[in-house]
Amino acid sequence: MEQLTCPHIIDRTGSDVHAEAAQIRANGPVSQIELPGGVLAWSIVGYEEAVQALADARFSKDPRQHWTAFRDGRIGQDFPLIGWALMDNMTTAYGADHSRLRRLTAKAFTTRRVEAMRPRVRAIIDGLLEELAAVEPGEVIDFKARYAHPFPSRVICELFGVPEERRAAMLRGGELNVDTTLTPEEVAANIEQWHTLMHQFVADKRREPGDDLTSDLLAAQEEDGSRLTDSELVGTLFLLLATGTEPVMNQLTNSVHVLLSHPEELARLRSGEITWSQVIEETLRMEAPVAHLPFRFPIEDVEVGGVVIPKGDPVLIGFAGIGRDPVKHGPTASEFDPTRSDKSHLSFGYGIYRCIGMPLAMLELELALPALFERFPGLELAVKSEEVEPQGTFIMNGRKELPVRLAGAAVQAA
Ligand code: HEM
Repeated sequence: MEQLTCPHIIDRTGSDVHAEAAQIRANGPVSQIELPGGVLAWSIVGYEEAVQALADARFSKDPRQHWTAFRDGRIGQDFPLIGWALMDNMTTAYGADHSRLRRLTAKAFTTRRVEAMRPRVRAIIDGLLEELAAVEPGEVIDFKARYAHPFPSRVICELFGVPEERRAAMLRGGELNVDTTLTPEEVAANIEQWHTLMHQFVADKRREPGDDLTSDLLAAQEEDGSRLTDSELVGTLFLLLATGTEPVMNQLTNSVHVLLSHPEELARLRSGEITWSQVIEETLRMEAPVAHLPFRFPIEDVEVGGVVIPKGDPVLIGFAGIGRDPVKHGPTASEFDPTRSDKSHLSFGYGIYRCIGMPLAMLELELALPALFERFPGLELAVKSEEVEPQGTFIMNGRKELPVRLAGAAVQAA
């Protein structure tokens, strides 16, 4: 089908990912967009259309095999999202390679394995709340920097055996990878930097393995059948550190921002009229932490929602828009209503590439949010809700920072 509208030009500063999703939707649930660097792509922001595409095995995530322009050498090192094509891990793999790479780590994140992490996750939360309890009453702090980032990053770094002194530098690669305002030079420098750091870390682990998932991956490398290359090993490590931190951090920050800007809902939550589970599902729906995810490529022409996406074109899945699709959720789709009966979302993805960290993420959210509000009942925003700045990326949906006051005395830990 012919594209009748001009492609929406993506705002690389991510000044308002929800407004942008609505603008894209005005061109239809499946439409063309223009990425930074003038690269044309497709965006899917309709719920049903996304389910259809995500369940369709004719969508690959491997640019080396299935992105026509990349294969033809028309996507240069100066493309600002080149990092997303050059990664070597399950998110850029297809078919048997995807299954092989996913299997290696998925088993570490099953519901049973994650349940065993509960006491340690709880201890990390208690430690952070203790640090916050030492803050002067009335002092303004950045919730994101003091709780939402350190919490998931400590969890994932412990799991992978990353020592404290290496964490900030090793996590920086994932932070910068979602920053869509970087220049091509900054992108190239970041890719080089994280490769170096991850290779050094892996070399050290190889000499001195520990009881951690990096050492498990190294052991798997020796096993027949895994055929894990060094490039895949560091790519997998990079992916897990980034995905283990960034979306959880955003989800925590977004949830606290939403709750503090809806005092009536917060009061109902405190009184037990609504539950944390309702609040978490509703914030995942209306504030999907992954806003617009690169890349998929149809391996043949594929029709989605009446639009034919040509073979080899890049496709982004607009999770933030999907959660607010009025076709699925009606005219109140953009409103925060934890009592709505249908809170379905695709914020963890759908189909074979669905998030492997979902059980861990859910455990983290279910523990970290109630514990925070119980410990600091007077928690409040330190700026007007509308003054909270967006993260500055169109890939993620988060806040640059979240200034809050813990206000009032902390309730003593039980
Ligand atoms: C609220 C938190 C999280 C959200 C909203 C989230 C969201 C997502 C989404 C949307 C995808 C699908 C990508 C696609 O379809 O292309 C995904 C994949 C993935 N996530 Fe998460 N994620 C979260 C937490 C985590 C955590 C804690 C981990 C790690 C422990 C993790 C690891 C992964 C991995 C490895 C993949 C790739 C799966 C594959 O390519 O087969 N995520 N996540």
